[in-house]
Amino acid sequence: MYEVKSFELKEGQKVSVSDFPRVSLAHTPTPLESMPNLTRLLGGPDLLVKRDDCTGLAMGGNKARHLEFYFGEAVAQKADTVIITGAIQSNFARQTAAAAAKLGMACHIQLEHRVPITAPEYEASGNVLLDRLLGATIHYFPEGGDETAADKALEDIADQIRAEGGNPYVIHLSADHPPLGALGYVIGAGEFLDQAAERGLAIDAVVLPSGSAATHAGVLVGLKSRNSDIEVTGVCVRRNKDRQFERVFRQATAVAEMAGCPEAVSKDDIHVTDDYLGPGYGQSTPGMLEAMTLAAREEGLILDPVYTGKSMAGLIGLVRSGHFKSGQTVLYLHTGGTPAVFGYSSMFGDL
Ligand SMILES: Cc1ncc(COP(=O)(O)O)c(C=O)c1O
Repeated sequence: MYEVKSFELKEGQKVSVSDFPRVSLAHTPTPLESMPNLTRLLGGPDLLVKRDDCTGLAMGGNKARHLEFYFGEAVAQKADTVIITGAIQSNFARQTAAAAAKLGMACHIQLEHRVPITAPEYEASGNVLLDRLLGATIHYFPEGGDETAADKALEDIADQIRAEGGNPYVIHLSADHPPLGALGYVIGAGEFLDQAAERGLAIDAVVLPSGSAATHAGVLVGLKSRNSDIEVTGVCVRRNKDRQFERVFRQATAVAEMAGCPEAVSKDDIHVTDDYLGPGYGQSTPGMLEAMTLAAREEGLILDPVYTGKSMAGLIGLVRSGHFKSGQTVLYLHTGGTPAVFGYSSMFGDL
């Protein structure tokens, strides 16, 4: 049903993204739209939005592009089960459960207590409700801040599945593992470059949320591999800017190697800001709430509080501070997260 090429790197062999097994999961190309009302309101550069909230796969988001490569490898390894970890309201886990269902595999999701919210809808609505509807088996993990321990716990689940005769495939979280899924954004960056070129638009800058940094790294490598020097700003959603800078560099170096253009990304290409992070991952800020309401009421766009609300707050802040100026064109990468709005509804009491 799904054609998959197996991939084995021979010594000295040059690799490219097309060498990696990949299954088709995302609805692409996603639309590239203008945001005329927000552009007018902020009075700065022309603002575009790349609608990766429209990638399909159980309500969209950036991880659909990542999963094309993870599931490519899983299918090539004849896995029957996929295992993933994430925060309770993880969008990655929800889309993994959808991909597993579509490909006839079982899915085990480990949900980490990463955010200090105990509202009942946080634990049961939004992405969690969809995980259950999609038939995933849910495990819980108490140490939300420790990625290595979370990955280790995934291996324990995998061992258990193997002991029962299954063949599990693990999608790891920590930066010790190459971010295979980032290859989806090497392609995604090429996609928006082509869309802009078709319309005669020159993009000056990209703003995106930077979490595991796979999306950020993939976009950077995708642009560099097309000889583009468009500035990419990652808005930190989990770590401070020093730690995130190192993580983006490490991941971009790994992605560049996988994509056959080693050393394409230098430290000078990496821009991160933690001015919009607030107290931490998944925690509310006034800027995020303003960004979510402005995007909804000016452009009809639904953002989420964890990733896209904060990255939109970053875009707005960078326009207001004069970092982006009129005459420029800035692309905002909408990475999805829509179902999380329902899980975090306790944050919106003042609307
Ligand atoms: C909606 C959304 N946007 C952005 C991100 C961050 O992407 P990355 O982990 O590739 O940095 C995530 C991660 O889960 C996400 O769910």
